[in-house]
Amino acid sequence: MRARVFPGYEAMSAAAAGVIARRLGEDPSAVLMLPTGTTPLGMYRHLSTMHRAGEVSFERATFFNLDEYLGLRPDHRASYHVYMKEHFYGLIDADPARIFVPDGAAPDPEAECERYEAAIREAGGIDVCVLGIGRNGHIGFNEPGAPFDSRTRVVTLSESTRLVNAGDFEANRAPQRALTVGMATIFESKEVLLLASGTNKARAVAVAVEGDVSESVPASMLKRHPNAGLFLDEDAASDLGSGVAG
Ligand code: PGA
Repeated sequence: MRARVFPGYEAMSAAAAGVIARRLGEDPSAVLMLPTGTTPLGMYRHLSTMHRAGEVSFERATFFNLDEYLGLRPDHRASYHVYMKEHFYGLIDADPARIFVPDGAAPDPEAECERYEAAIREAGGIDVCVLGIGRNGHIGFNEPGAPFDSRTRVVTLSESTRLVNAGDFEANRAPQRALTVGMATIFESKEVLLLASGTNKARAVAVAVEGDVSESVPASMLKRHPNAGLFLDEDAASDLGSGVAG
């Protein structure tokens, strides 16, 4: 896993947008897997700006999102459907027929997960998977302990994740469960790009990069990936080499 440290969040976000734009330049019908959260907002902003400037088109690309809360309708203001529409899909020339976000309100969530996994397979797999990282090392909603051979499935969120995300929900109560793309599905992506910004990610980053590869630290799986990059700002990189991971 190659780590690159950028002087700040903007530089990191611009570099991440550059990776996506370059890939689409080479292959306009690339298949992307995308995250939500605070971290990728800058990347989405850069890509939307590049699109408005005529520098990149998403018309032939296919998009899969990493996860969604179980029980949220696609029009719920805290849903990742709404997030993606507001911050990215609604701002570019994406073809709605090639945008996939797990349906948190599907009557049969297990069947929805199978449908989602099948759609990824039918698209030919993921070319570039962009990830954030949780303070506990999660990727997507694959919390510590997620099996490396897991597929898209219903998961229970850790209390720490629910606490971090509570502010998005009424009465500060995040859903207990979610649908997430699995660890094996992420691993099979041709390229993985993990973004981390801020001191509150420094420890998770150091443990993932410098600790053992272990299911207790989901992001550590990426060390086995042949083409995974870690884009960090200086704050997120601040525990590297400090021995915190040992
Ligand atoms: P964040 O979330 O970008 O909002 O910090 C990342 C994550 O939990 O995966």
